Amino acid sequence: MINAVANWKLNGSASFCHDWFDEFNASFHGDPSAVAIAPPAIYIPLCNELKKNNLNICAQNLDYSTEAARTGEISLEMLKDMDCSMSIIGHSERRNIFGETSEIIRNKLEKVASHTFTSIYCIGESLAEYDSGKSLEAIKNQLDNELLALNRNIKLYIAYEPIWAIGSGKLPSTQEIESMHGFINDTISLYENINVLGILYGGSVSVGNSQELSESELIDGVLVGGASLNGKSFAKIASSFDKV
Ligand code: PGA
Repeated sequence: MINAVANWKLNGSASFCHDWFDEFNASFHGDPSAVAIAPPAIYIPLCNELKKNNLNICAQNLDYSTEAARTGEISLEMLKDMDCSMSIIGHSERRNIFGETSEIIRNKLEKVASHTFTSIYCIGESLAEYDSGKSLEAIKNQLDNELLALNRNIKLYIAYEPIWAIGSGKLPSTQEIESMHGFINDTISLYENINVLGILYGGSVSVGNSQELSESELIDGVLVGGASLNGKSFAKIASSFDKV
């Protein structure tokens, strides 16, 4: 069971990776198999060398096609070849900056479903949807268009990441997150082909709020951006969720 994922986004360098693992390894004493680090893909081999335990190295994205004429993309097979068996899929930055549609995300999930590979599938409402009381509707639409419409059985993690909470320092109350996670569980329970391994929360998770989030039975873990860039801070966050 994964309960803490570090999403480094477009941050990092070879020396950053070395420093980060020095800090993380010195501070984290929990179960590394419950933790995943998602560096930029080019640093996956280096992170695999530096990790020194069974911590998971995760991709931030993958391509689904079997065609080779897709300059700049990285396939699931290539990730597996580099000992990476997990990827974030459908992060809101992929949707909003790179134009990933529900169809593209469904293709990626279908690709993952046909392999031994784990996805951390992200969903979340915009600020306008949140402010107008349409969060449930927005989440239901994403789940219906992307998971219900899948043609395959899939086991996956879902990360609920309200777009307005990402990198903003603002996050919903724990009760709001719990009620959304309950809604996601209820919605998914009606889909026959989906097996949810856990529901993570993402968006402005920090050392200051991770303990409270970890105390909720409905929050299985966290997907962390900014606060994951410091190995020591991320070790503290991951430790809050360590149930060993
Ligand atoms: P944040 O990012 O923790 O910096 O808000 C989370 C994410 O985008 O996954």
